[in-house]
Amino acid sequence: MKKVAVAVLASGEGSNYRALQAYEGAPYEIALLGTDDPRAPALSKAREDGLPTALLPPEGFPSREAWEKAMVEVLEESRVEWVVLAGFMRILGPFFLRAFPWRVVNLHPSLLPSFRGREAIARALQRGVSWTGITVHLVDEGVDQGPVVIQRPVPRLPGDDEESLTRRIKEAEHHLYPRALHALLEVPFRVEEGRLLWADERKVRLLCGEPF
Ligand code: GAR
Repeated sequence: MKKVAVAVLASGEGSNYRALQAYEGAPYEIALLGTDDPRAPALSKAREDGLPTALLPPEGFPSREAWEKAMVEVLEESRVEWVVLAGFMRILGPFFLRAFPWRVVNLHPSLLPSFRGREAIARALQRGVSWTGITVHLVDEGVDQGPVVIQRPVPRLPGDDEESLTRRIKEAEHHLYPRALHALLEVPFRVEEGRLLWADERKVRLLCGEPF
């Protein structure tokens, strides 16, 4: 079966990029890694892997829309069909989202709608939560919102600090994100009133595993 060409956009470490790349049996092929930050370790990782990369620092553009147009052009040249945000720390506006309607997916290190935005793990710890988790969601124009694709809880364990909790959250992300993308590409869905509705929820559970 022909694989779906996806772009990964990342601004950070790129550990989720690597997990997406390593996932066996993927119905997708990463065609390109795009970044806004020349210092992002994700960029060096993709270059090491011999993957085409696009470095577009927004400072080089007169407006957000001009930056979005340039990024969309690069993605369209690579025939990208889905955009997978993996630690991409910029808000995508209407121009970009219209080019990929309900085909931009994001990963966030909390159980949304709790702890949207930056420093989600540190803020969850600071509030003393017993459980936090991860959310995969489709991207709309808000920050870390949009229809939930799938979530997984992650407990705060005694003695957890930001480093240890981040490590376990990332483990959960590396497992779930490629599988959630697999489900999005293979199980039909629709979005109604901000909610994602699967045509076959059992298949999603088979691909992603049971929540507990
Ligand atoms: C991940 O933990 C992801 O959930 C988070 O950035 C990290 C990227 O890690 N994303 C957000 O906070 C989005 N709001 P990585 O660069 O090692 O894949």
